Amino acid sequence: MISKEIIDEILLRNDIESLIGNYVSLKRAGSNLKGLCPFHSEKTPSFVVYPADNSFYCFGCGIGGDAVTFVKQMEHLDYPDALEFLAKRAGITIPLTNDRNYNGKRVDKSRVLKMNTDAARFFHKCLMSNDPEAKAALAYFTDKRGLDLATVKYFGLGFAPNSYNAFSNYMRKLGYSYEELTEAFLCGKNDRGQYYDAFRNRVMFPIIDVSGNVIAFGGRVMDDSKPKYKNSSDTPVFKKSRNLFALNFARLTCSEKLILCEGYMDVIALHAAGITNAVATLGTAITSEQARVMSRYTKKVIISYDSDEAGKKAADRAIKILGEVGLDVSVLNIPGSKDPDEYIKTYGKEKFEQLIDGAKSEFEYNLESITSRYDLNLPQDKIKALKEVEKLISEVYSSAERDVYMREVAVRFAVDMKSIKNDVERMISKRTYTKKKEESKNLLRRSEGFSDRTNPDFVKAPAIAKNEEAVLGLLLYMPDHLKRVVEKKLLTSEDFFTELNRRIFEFLMQNYSIGDVGPPDFNEAFAPDEVGRIVRMKMSRAEFTDNGEAILEESIKNLKASLSKKKASATNTYEGLNALLAKKRDN
Ligand code: CTP
Ligand code: MN
Repeated sequence: MISKEIIDEILLRNDIESLIGNYVSLKRAGSNLKGLCPFHSEKTPSFVVYPADNSFYCFGCGIGGDAVTFVKQMEHLDYPDALEFLAKRAGITIPLTNDRNYNGKRVDKSRVLKMNTDAARFFHKCLMSNDPEAKAALAYFTDKRGLDLATVKYFGLGFAPNSYNAFSNYMRKLGYSYEELTEAFLCGKNDRGQYYDAFRNRVMFPIIDVSGNVIAFGGRVMDDSKPKYKNSSDTPVFKKSRNLFALNFARLTCSEKLILCEGYMDVIALHAAGITNAVATLGTAITSEQARVMSRYTKKVIISYDSDEAGKKAADRAIKILGEVGLDVSVLNIPGSKDPDEYIKTYGKEKFEQLIDGAKSEFEYNLESITSRYDLNLPQDKIKALKEVEKLISEVYSSAERDVYMREVAVRFAVDMKSIKNDVERMISKRTYTKKKEESKNLLRRSEGFSDRTNPDFVKAPAIAKNEEAVLGLLLYMPDHLKRVVEKKLLTSEDFFTELNRRIFEFLMQNYSIGDVGPPDFNEAFAPDEVGRIVRMKMSRAEFTDNGEAILEESIKNLKASLSKKKASATNTYEGLNALLAKKRDN
């Protein structure tokens, strides 16, 4: 448990405006700030930050809360990790932080990191040793893959000997237990309960985070055997889906553009040749988390995947995911080589830089892929291709950009620019119309409580639910009244019909003695959209503080009245039904 004092301290020292400002570009709107919501895609800002209240709320998707809620949602962290993240940001040490529970066991993150560092040292030492086996491994890097010794050292590359216990014996001498080694995926355990070294006879790539910690390993075979790579699974210090290989180096030179490769070897070859802004994913397809991480370090990503079919497919996916977080994306075509590694070794740095300069923009890339699927000499094909291209243009946001593309396409397809423009504009207005209709329908649904995922009971009794929200909003806004309501039992949990609101009330009852129960207190027990709802209830009551007491009484009365009305009508229906049945029997 982290004490309330520490949590308050963490929140106090993490000013919400500057925290959120790191992720979202905010503009002043009166005493508040507004921006595009980072949690759902939108073109007009509905995301509001309330500096006075240290909270935020998105009127589009309903997520809201305080700094902790924001970090939970944005960084995909659980509650204790979100607190730790903010504590670190503010330079606060959380006592007991190294002792917290993970999967029911006690885990000390700094110990896991130290263990990984010791493992990396072991693997590197093995690679550099005089053992014949090790010499062969080093030769794999130097002779077969063309790396120089400096690069091998720079990336901390290593070798895991062909033994079931050489590594674990060494590590156990350093004081690490088999359990610890197994949890970090450095050891495995067989059916008979025997432990063995997880990485054997493989060259080793340490994965290092941006703070310089060794967080995981990838190990490659040196021949054609399978599996080609073995990678650490997720641990308390490592998440595959959010880390990038070599970002610890690339972050220093990537503010303009970042090169995204598929393989460790591609990245290493590029860095060795002096192209130091290259990273790779860790044996999986790119995730939106990784895209968001990249968007924090750079503006533009150049996808530099293998030139085979699999690489092209992966590139299509990456274009989409990177575009979604607002990154400028282009795609490298690597002629005559299977991957960047092979290309740069064959043709050198200058040629590769020329490729980068000539990298196709997202639009050009998509245009190529459409035209390659059709034979433009056949009128039918040409019409189909043009339609697809027009659709592509219609999805470009800037009208100046659209103009440039239309001019280009007109020439390429030998079609009048005016007719392309007509088609494109028709597509855009049609889409805007359906979108507007959809939006207003959604808004209506939301305001009526339909398909309310945060409070699914809302739709069953909207009148009651609205009254509940009014009462809860006031109680949140006026802690003094909360105390009175709870102590005098003016309300009980039976007075709440919807499950969410009852839970919120019960939480207030249990915690009223701490005084002002606000969003920070809800973060542990409630999900971000629920905390968002709580913020909305509270903020929408702000105008009623003057004669709060009277308004609260009134709201409580309304709530109780709507509840008994529902009960009455339920009974009536029941009685009506009985009467009907009785009548039927009589007939
Ligand atoms: N990968 C993996 N497991 C495999 C194959 C690949 O985790 N069985 C991951 C690795 O992160 C690898 C990346 O996918 O770096 C790209 O795969 P590939 O192109 O096959 O590997 P390279 O590292 O480029 O290997 P090489 O050039 O040595 O063949
Ligand atoms: Mn490859």
